[in-house]
Amino acid sequence: MKKFVALIGAVAALALTANVAAAQSPIVIKFSHVVANDTPKGKGALKFKELAEKYTNGKVKVEVYPNSQLYKDKEEIEALQLGSVQMLAPSTAKFAPLGAKEFEALDLPWLFKDDAEYAKTMKGAVGKYLFSKLEAKGIKGLAYWDNGFHMVSSNEPLLMPADFQGKKFRISGSKIADQYFRLMGSIPQIMAFSEVYQALQTGVVDGCENTPSNYLTQKFDEVQKHITVANHAHLQYAVIVNSKFWGGLPADIRTQLEKAMDEATDYTNSIAHEENVDALKQIKAKGKAELHYLNDDQKKAWREAMAPTYKWAKGRVGQEVLDIMSKELGVKMN
Ligand code: LMR
Repeated sequence: MKKFVALIGAVAALALTANVAAAQSPIVIKFSHVVANDTPKGKGALKFKELAEKYTNGKVKVEVYPNSQLYKDKEEIEALQLGSVQMLAPSTAKFAPLGAKEFEALDLPWLFKDDAEYAKTMKGAVGKYLFSKLEAKGIKGLAYWDNGFHMVSSNEPLLMPADFQGKKFRISGSKIADQYFRLMGSIPQIMAFSEVYQALQTGVVDGCENTPSNYLTQKFDEVQKHITVANHAHLQYAVIVNSKFWGGLPADIRTQLEKAMDEATDYTNSIAHEENVDALKQIKAKGKAELHYLNDDQKKAWREAMAPTYKWAKGRVGQEVLDIMSKELGVKMN
């Protein structure tokens, strides 16, 4: 009997220890992304980590994995669906595998006049509509993070549409980008972000498009002789989580994480423009690639060449999102 009591005591003590450990072990959020820490998205992810851990008093631990350390582009989306990671911030050009092609409407060329117009659009009906498309897929959209406008590059200057003729360009996933590169006479090719530097270096592709902060941190400017600061399209991210994971969090923790995300979002979107201005300055100072700016005639020629993308887009993203955009931005879509 004594032995039995001792055994029960030991089991109870073990259970208590396990309970205490469970109560103390933090909820882990793995946040995977494909860019460098020193970019708007990289800094945003680290800001979220800092605030989330602070507001939850360490009950949540955020592990940030930058630079495709865990997963490349398409794999990270699958990992989120499977629950191997809890948080991502992919470019919205990569949302078709989630069954949300509507996001690609944001890739329409010459869509946003400037940063302010982009920001206003995402805060309004367009941003809301796009997030509603994720719900049915078991994904929750938490925030939109900015990264600014695309440049485009190759080893020859790209000043008129004819300069694109026959060249191969890496694109990140959007069929809208595929379309406008084709309309310029070039051959687009989808490729994971982590493979772009080598593909440019070895000539697997002739060129690519991206923002200054991505060119600088991935050293694309070291393997491209000419960069055109065209601002022809916009790069933005949606921070997303698995709905089941998010809904399963204790309500107080979720509220603290939402506060952390709101503040990290304000921070990221407030630095995105300056980060890119600064990156462009650094690219210029390095002097590896020559920078070009389009004059009015060149810009007009690009816009005209890419314009049929708008009519084509209806079959890809559907009329609904185009109508919402048209109303919000006051432009004719097709
Ligand atoms: C790309 O693949 O070019 C971008 O999506 C990378 C990024 O996340 O900024």
